[in-house]
Amino acid sequence: MDGSGDEKAKPPQDRLADLLADDMAAVNVLIRERMASRHAPRIPEVTAHLVEAGGKRLRPMLTLAAARMLGYAGVDHVRLAATVEFIHTATLLHDDVVDESHRRRGRPTANLLWDNKSSVLVGDYLFSRSFQLMVETGNLRVLDILANASATIAEGEVLQLTAAQDLATDEAVYLQIIRGKTAALFSAATEVGGVIAGASEAQVRALWDYGDALGVAFQIVDDILDYGGQDAVIGKNTGDDFRERKLTLPVIKAVALADAEERAFWTRVIERGDQREGDLDAALAILRRHGSIDAARRESLDWAARAKDALHNLPVHPLRNLLSELADYVIERVL
Ligand code: IPE
Ligand code: IPE
Ligand code: MG
Ligand code: MG
Repeated sequence: MDGSGDEKAKPPQDRLADLLADDMAAVNVLIRERMASRHAPRIPEVTAHLVEAGGKRLRPMLTLAAARMLGYAGVDHVRLAATVEFIHTATLLHDDVVDESHRRRGRPTANLLWDNKSSVLVGDYLFSRSFQLMVETGNLRVLDILANASATIAEGEVLQLTAAQDLATDEAVYLQIIRGKTAALFSAATEVGGVIAGASEAQVRALWDYGDALGVAFQIVDDILDYGGQDAVIGKNTGDDFRERKLTLPVIKAVALADAEERAFWTRVIERGDQREGDLDAALAILRRHGSIDAARRESLDWAARAKDALHNLPVHPLRNLLSELADYVIERVL
């Protein structure tokens, strides 16, 4: 055999990138073209910093894969993929301000290198550029889907803001938050790929279900890694969620099982925000004691399985197989 063994060893997201290489190259050209501004030099400085750092380009690949899997032969899927990545990048700029984060994509965040003002304004610019791009498709239904997704992301982020520091936040609220802030863009990314390809309603629904479940699994994994990952691997600082006093799934599960002493600990560090040296380690020890990380991991597995199930309603295609493998891969980081 001719190196197909190596091919197999490549992660599905790299094989997706290989299969969609021409489309992805077109998306990257469009991103570079539209992230610039002749009128305000700060804009290309900030966007280049983020875009050159890469990022996995997961969401635009989902749009391209969905469209191609359903036989699309036009050019609008490239515009939609770039739109989706712009929306994503805009939310990251804003999110790092809100979370006061210092690392993103293995680099210092824009809010650290420049300032919050630049991040907020350049994020707004990217949002606006994303709308211009999607308007160019002339397809009202995709405009509706992506405009809704943008609003839902903002709602998820704001809901998280008010749910943070509140030990009463339960798993239902958590799911609502992550469905908004993260899964909404995954599901919109897959859905618009199907819509532009003229897929049947059942197929569009299946694409939405896949994106939604993949996005939920993805965010649960991200939240687990905030406690158990390595900075160098995830390209972000761990412990951000604890410092920001967010009730993510592992913590919600541990709080539900807390004895009086643990409850006092969570009240102090999460509700009162009185965090001291060693508290993150103490939190980790409590999470371990209750198996909360494992419990969250099992839920991410369930969501990945749901994502794969949704694919059964889509045509047999090499891209469908890769999307199925991608669902396993997304959760592999915590297995
Ligand atoms: C980061 O998403 C934001 C979350 C939803 C956790 P990604 O991990 O896909 O970010 P990049 O684009 O690859 O940096
Ligand atoms: C990311 O949320 C979701 C959005 C960007 C809207 P997080 O705050 O949990 O993700 P990271 O850890 O900063 O990437
Ligand atoms: Mg963040
Ligand atoms: Mg955040």
